[in-house]
This record gives sequence, C-alpha cells and structure tokens, in this order.
Amino acid sequence: METVNSGTGPRSTPVPTKTSALAGAPSSDAALLTGSRTPPAQTTVVADIRKSRRRIVWTAISAFLITNFLMFLRFFFPRTLLEPSTKFRIGYPSDFGPGVDERFKQSHRVWVVRRPDRLFVIYGKCTHLGCTPNWIESENKFKCPCHGSGYDMEGRNFEGPAPRPMDRAFVELDAEGQIVVDTSRLSTCPPGGECQFETNPNSYLIVS
Ligand code: FES
Repeated sequence: METVNSGTGPRSTPVPTKTSALAGAPSSDAALLTGSRTPPAQTTVVADIRKSRRRIVWTAISAFLITNFLMFLRFFFPRTLLEPSTKFRIGYPSDFGPGVDERFKQSHRVWVVRRPDRLFVIYGKCTHLGCTPNWIESENKFKCPCHGSGYDMEGRNFEGPAPRPMDRAFVELDAEGQIVVDTSRLSTCPPGGECQFETNPNSYLIVS
C-alpha cells in the first residue's frame, strides 16, 4: 500500500498497489490483473486439443512401425503353394470298372483307366501347352479346351496340335493290395522316341 500526499495536510490517502490488489482477488481476476489473456477454462481446452493431437500422431507412428515390423516378419514365412501329395492311394483294382474314372481329376489331376487286361493312370496335362483336357464320355475321347487337341481313351493324341500322347503316372500295389499312384514319376511317349507305355512295368497294372 502506498500513501499519496494531497499537499493540503498531513493526511494521506492510501492507494492500493498491484501486489496488494492481487492478494485478495479471485484467481480468475488475478489472471486478468497480471496480464494473462487466457482464462483457465480456455487453457484446459487448448491443453486437451494438444493432447489429442499428440495421441493421433503417436498412433499413426505406432501403426506405421507395426506394419513395417510385420512386413519384415513376412520375409521369414515365404508363400508356398500347398499342392496335393504326388504319391497317394486310390483304392483297390476292383474299385474301378471298365472305362475312364474321373474321381481323382479334381484332387490329383489324373484319370484312372481300366481296360480289359490292364489298369493305368493318365496324367491330365495336354502335351501341347499344358491345359487340362476334359473326358467326353459321349465321344469316347479326351478333348483339350484350349486349342482342341483330342486323345483317345488311352491318352493317345489323334487330332489337334498335341505332339504326343499324354503321360501316365507310375502305379504299383502296396502291401495291402491298394493302388499307389506317383505323379512325380511319369511314363512318356515322345514323338519319334521310345514309348514307355508298354515297356515300363510301372506304367500299368495287370488286372483280370
Ligand atoms: S494346350 Fe491343349 S491343345 Fe493346346
């Protein structure tokens, strides 16, 4: 508190100083008196906005880092095609009647063909460019949908651009008498070369 001498006498009028005024004022008034232009409520809102912004930025950074980390981990798990086993059992010779059996075409890409004296397994891959032909029962032939090659019931080409017969998968009987097919080993009949269909005993099974 300061005193001001009016010049007319010994009496002086007390003038409140800034400090003394602040002492008894409410905090909001104090903020105004000290020159602060931001009231407390507004300060809180600004702080909340900053906090939200920080949270968004950190969330984005975390998502980015996690994505990159997962992509890094992906290198250790290369994509693999889960293909069916190339060696599998198809049942007993008595399970197959005369003609072409299509039961294993979808799962293993083979037809089981039973003729009067033998049984063999044709690998369903056209020898032109590798499409899978269809068996057409009414015409008694395999027909390739890609460029029209035709094969007879034994898989021998007779029309279209196919240069040779379709291959045959190796077959054998296991200890129980079931037929085991192995499509990783094929018996072929190259054009102008030795045809293995008759000479390779794994090309067929004798049935009666
Ligand atoms: S791929 Fe079969 S005829 Fe061309």
